[in-house]
Amino acid sequence: MKYYDQISDGYDELHREEQLRKLSVIKTNLSIDRSAVLLDVGCGTGFAQEIFDCEYVGFDPSFELLKKAKKAGGRVFQAIAEQIPLKDNSIDISICVSVLHHIKDLDKALNEIKRVTRKIIVFSLFKKSKCFGEIRNKVGSYFKVDKIINDDKDLILFAR
Ligand SMILES: C[S@@+](CC[C@H](N)C(=O)[O-])C[C@H]1O[C@@H](n2cnc3c(N)ncnc32)[C@H](O)[C@@H]1O
Repeated sequence: MKYYDQISDGYDELHREEQLRKLSVIKTNLSIDRSAVLLDVGCGTGFAQEIFDCEYVGFDPSFELLKKAKKAGGRVFQAIAEQIPLKDNSIDISICVSVLHHIKDLDKALNEIKRVTRKIIVFSLFKKSKCFGEIRNKVGSYFKVDKIINDDKDLILFAR
């Protein structure tokens, strides 16, 4: 069993409060239409849907985390960011919160996120991750970063 499947029962207790705070910072800095479609890349237990007032879709590789996201009523599916089963430009806004440092093939994932997203992509990057520098540079090479927020443990990038 993979790490996130194993810790699924305690995930919200461990991370929910901190992640909801980051998501609120993200929301405050975005202007989102109610009719917009938002994709939550690596959605975990899917609590981001409580924050955003628009159409929500999420995916994650962890079956056990997804079970919880489904129970919370989320439109979620199992996938990895390296291979997103969605059409080109089918998403208005993607968020990718505390996920990129877990991804094996960053180039593939960034290409896929770019392919499916029409407008804005928000990356929240864990500053203490070993590969933070590499990830930050890669995001800068794939996207135009319009805004950066230095938020406690994360650097939040608003890109397109
Ligand atoms: C720290 S959790 C963050 C979850 C959620 N975004 C949140 O804010 O609570 C990292 C998530 O990345 C997911 N993940 C790991 N590898 C992934 C991949 N290749 N593509 C998409 N998500 C992945 C994990 O299953 C886990 O749910």
